[in-house]
Amino acid sequence: MSHTLRPLRREDLSRVEAIYRQHTKEQAPADWLSVAHQAIDAAGDAPLAWVAVAARGRVVGYVVGEVRSWEFGSASAGWIIGIGVDVEHDGEGAGRDLLARLMESLAQRGTRTLRTMVRRDDVRVLRFFRSAGFATGPYTELEMEVGS
Ligand SMILES: CC(C)(COP(=O)(O)OP(=O)(O)OC[C@H]1O[C@@H](n2cnc3c(N)ncnc32)[C@H](O)[C@@H]1OP(=O)(O)O)[C@@H](O)C(=O)NCCC(=O)NCCS
Repeated sequence: MSHTLRPLRREDLSRVEAIYRQHTKEQAPADWLSVAHQAIDAAGDAPLAWVAVAARGRVVGYVVGEVRSWEFGSASAGWIIGIGVDVEHDGEGAGRDLLARLMESLAQRGTRTLRTMVRRDDVRVLRFFRSAGFATGPYTELEMEVGS
């Protein structure tokens, strides 16, 4: 089924949250949603959050990104905070198109690198990003338990 892309709007957020819940079985966290709100507020000519819209205006996918300087001494980079496609529209190219549109916006903003974090055992999502051209980057995520 065909879809079109347009920038994320505030009124799309309930559908975005529903798609998020399909995949995670959890509510979208407040900090995640705040990045989506920031992307809406700072959209300008190169929005960092997009939705895929199918028949009758139904939102069937989203991508939410931001630009930030996280790592010590590194230039700012684009980050994908979330990308999700309604399971009923799986494999129809919405994910690939959303990613391509986000990359165009980042290029317009002069951002040269796009990053994301993926569970290393999530073969399907890894395949999705690798097929789009992503490769392992120069940083390793470290973590530990706190408060125990
Ligand atoms: C990952 C996700 C966004 C892909 O969206 P999609 O619209 O189904 O993907 P597309 O149809 O655009 O497919 C693009 C590529 O992804 C890969 N892909 C898509 N569906 C796949 C499947 N079922 N199995 C393996 N690879 C698949 C393929 O390489 C495909 O390229 P191809 O069509 O040239 O073969 C979607 O499956 C999703 O929402 N997953 C759950 C949410 C998630 O984990 N997001 C990532 C972390 S935020």
